[in-house]
Amino acid sequence: MKERILDLLSNTDGYISGQHISELLGVSRTAVWKNIQRLQEEGYVIEGIKNKGYRLAKKGDILSLYELKCHMDESSRQAVADQGKSAGPFTGKFGSEIHYYDEIDSTNLQVKRLAEIGAPEGTLVVGDCQVKGRGRLGRVWTSPSGCGLWMSLLLRPEFSPMQASMVTLAAAMAVRDGIYKVTGIEAGIKWPNDLVCNGKKICGILTEMSMEENRISYIVVGIGINVNNRSFPEELQEKAVSLAMLTGKNCSRAALAAAVCRSFEQYYEMFTADGNLKRIVPTYNQYLINRGRQVVISDHAVSMVCTSEGIDETGALLVVREDGTREAITSGEVSVRGIYGYV
Ligand code: BTN
Repeated sequence: MKERILDLLSNTDGYISGQHISELLGVSRTAVWKNIQRLQEEGYVIEGIKNKGYRLAKKGDILSLYELKCHMDESSRQAVADQGKSAGPFTGKFGSEIHYYDEIDSTNLQVKRLAEIGAPEGTLVVGDCQVKGRGRLGRVWTSPSGCGLWMSLLLRPEFSPMQASMVTLAAAMAVRDGIYKVTGIEAGIKWPNDLVCNGKKICGILTEMSMEENRISYIVVGIGINVNNRSFPEELQEKAVSLAMLTGKNCSRAALAAAVCRSFEQYYEMFTADGNLKRIVPTYNQYLINRGRQVVISDHAVSMVCTSEGIDETGALLVVREDGTREAITSGEVSVRGIYGYV
């Protein structure tokens, strides 16, 4: 009933009386009042005025299944209207099934569990807080409640395992677009899987693959975006930044999740149709912050300094070593950083 009251409030300009809501929904006025209280506890700013009724004053950043579905529906309507103008075809697949948790071990782990019991491609898992958030190279991903967008998507591709690393690059483009659409911030991409603003990390992507007899059984794309954090633990302060720290205002994580899903499915469709990133490369390279810069590529104990030239259509980073030899680096387990620090 809470959702139906929220629908009525969202679709009413001005006030709607408790009596009118109770008649429309066929419930008592006490039930209406109790549900309004619950919504207020969840963070919706609902004004109640005697003899006038209720008005939804502000939604703010509320992360719930209801908000995710509303934003996903809205962005689907926009994508349908924009078809032809937009980058790729709209399928509506990503986020067509949504699982939301106030707390979860890791959204990537939850997608894997759902994949094992037959969840469809495009299944989206979002958690307000992750207690075992996982980063790349076995690192821990700190995922407190109320500030980040911790989301994972399930893919069931037909392509070969060799092509899987390209998915991360398409996801990075989608996050970049999503952030721009919702906040107007132009993030840069740090190959292969970080998004960066003002030299600090705003998003990380962890792509994991499950194989069966040399074929991909499924892929999980986990995306962690620092959204409404106002500060970071000391050890991250030099390296991490959030959207709210850049704009000074909170941003709707549900709107951001929907924007990322819509953009990602368009890049993903392009990539699966072509079998490579040829249509994405020019824009990706435009956003690539380490392009034309000296970078240190580390693969376990071995590090080399080289100049990065951008990606090719397989998603490999093209680099020139100090002795002038060229090399294409595939993402795998390498880490890339600037010669003086993170970027
Ligand atoms: C990185 O190391 O940069 C990748 C971080 C990926 C974090 C996201 S948050 C949602 C998803 N669930 C996880 O446990 N990890 C990814």
